[in-house]
Amino acid sequence: MAVSTSKSVWQDTATTTAFSPLTRPVTVDVAIAGGGITGLTAALLLKRAGLSVAVVEALTIAGGVTAYTTAHISEVPDVGYKTLRSTFGESDARLAADARRAAIERIAQFVSEAQIDCQFERVTGYLYAESDDDSMLESEAQAARGLGVDATFSTAVPLPFPVRAGVVFPNQAQFNAVSYLQALASLVDGDGSYVFERSRVLDVTGSSPYQITTEQGTVTARNVILATHTPIHDIANMQDLYLLTTKLTPYRSYVVAAQLRSPVPTGQFWDTMEPYHYTRNYTNAQQNWLIVGGEDHKTGEDVDALERYQRLEDYVRQRYEVESIDYRWSAQWYEPIDGLPFIGKSLAHDHLYVATGFSGNGISFGTIAGMLLSDQILGRENPWGKLYDPGRIKPLASAQQFVSQNLQVAAHFVGDRFQTDVETLDEIPRGEGRRIKLENEQLAVYRDDVGELHAVSAVCTHAGCIVNWNNAEKSWDCPCHGGRFSCTGNVLNGPPMNPLDAKTVDRP
Ligand SMILES: Cc1cc2nc3c(=O)[nH]c(=O)nc-3n(C[C@H](O)[C@H](O)[C@H](O)COP(=O)(O)OP(=O)(O)OC[C@H]3O[C@@H](n4cnc5c(N)ncnc54)[C@H](O)[C@@H]3O)c2cc1C
Ligand code: FES
Repeated sequence: MAVSTSKSVWQDTATTTAFSPLTRPVTVDVAIAGGGITGLTAALLLKRAGLSVAVVEALTIAGGVTAYTTAHISEVPDVGYKTLRSTFGESDARLAADARRAAIERIAQFVSEAQIDCQFERVTGYLYAESDDDSMLESEAQAARGLGVDATFSTAVPLPFPVRAGVVFPNQAQFNAVSYLQALASLVDGDGSYVFERSRVLDVTGSSPYQITTEQGTVTARNVILATHTPIHDIANMQDLYLLTTKLTPYRSYVVAAQLRSPVPTGQFWDTMEPYHYTRNYTNAQQNWLIVGGEDHKTGEDVDALERYQRLEDYVRQRYEVESIDYRWSAQWYEPIDGLPFIGKSLAHDHLYVATGFSGNGISFGTIAGMLLSDQILGRENPWGKLYDPGRIKPLASAQQFVSQNLQVAAHFVGDRFQTDVETLDEIPRGEGRRIKLENEQLAVYRDDVGELHAVSAVCTHAGCIVNWNNAEKSWDCPCHGGRFSCTGNVLNGPPMNPLDAKTVDRP
């Protein structure tokens, strides 16, 4: 098959149901912006508890980052249990481990109760090192065990290339994330609750009740969950949410799905390289794929994204007997300053809830967010609330990271104003975008495949940083808080709510 560069293997192999756009006023108990794993988990739990919900999704169900995940449902956070324990202390680190275990079981329960056909399977996970990293692995296994996680140091890691040693985590899980979310959405829609697709939230006004406005309709609700991966917000009215974005660093990550000539190893594998690689198998009725991710870098950095795919493909070809690369995709994740996500009530807005900063672990953290936020809205005690509180302060652990991240944002804000990629419009090749200064204005100009120019302001509509061209995704990416825009300036991801300002340029 020809390599697909627009769809993930999940999107291509899942059966999908279409939901209508929001075209009228609707009143419910809880409005949820975003139909990813966070929004739909919360929606289903709230509906089951007797509340009415409306999920309002800008694209299609599971069309955000969840469609581009690799869907390891794992107990093991990216930050590692040793670091988690030293940052948060033993009892909170144990709580974090309990929550991740509970998320796996929550998903397993949804799957078995509703008989969801999403290739859910229990597998073993391996954190492994190709070279001499034994002491790090041994101490990681010990830290995990100390927090109640089943973890064993071993030199037997079932990969078809030399591996020095690993930590074995039994009883992890994996699935097709899009099939899973499609099923959740079908369970949410109906009986006074709603799922709307192709309905971007353009504004959130009022205060319990809130009005959330889309192009053609509104939802009025006492509670709002911003389950948009990172909270969308208008800086003027929601400065507390802006503060939250300053505690996150956005990264891009790259994935390929390959068919092999040799057996595909079963399980999940995470190496100790920097940036690390993450690997799993995916088997459906038709095929058996090896899915490998990695080559992460900060969003909006001046990197050649196509070269990142090539490096990832080289890594795979050096270690496996590749028959074909069938899919490749990339997406964004957010690193929180202290290693754990921010989930809970917004600081300044009553009954407005947020969930963000999931690192590369948002299948479990998104499920945890759905469980925690639904409990908070229902007024139920949940032991995880304080740990994930968006207003928490972990000075020692996070101050350095906070300062470094925000110095970089400041450097982009000031320094990028002088950045241009070309001097003249005719230097922009077809199918590419470049930044250019024209009449003292910094523009982001894309030349489409037939030669037509599409010009927008290069100033990000979130907080004014300068966007950068992403040659793999054909998008304009902002290095400050991960705002991303299509080649013609429409919002794709991140905190911005408004498109880049349209401009006109004379054809060269
Ligand atoms: C390449 C990659 C691999 C990953 N692999 C793993 C993994 O193996 N295991 C793991 O646990 N995690 C993994 N992650 C992380 C995980 O996939 C994400 O953290 C998780 O899917 C996020 O879910 P979400 O529901 O918060 O966000 P999303 O899935 O992005 O959902 C948010 C939704 O909100 C919608 N939205 C945005 N703005 C608006 C608006 N204004 N109005 C209405 N809707 C809006 C979006 O369209 C989107 O559908 C990976 C991430 C990446 C990038
Ligand atoms: S300035 Fe914040 S995302 Fe661009």
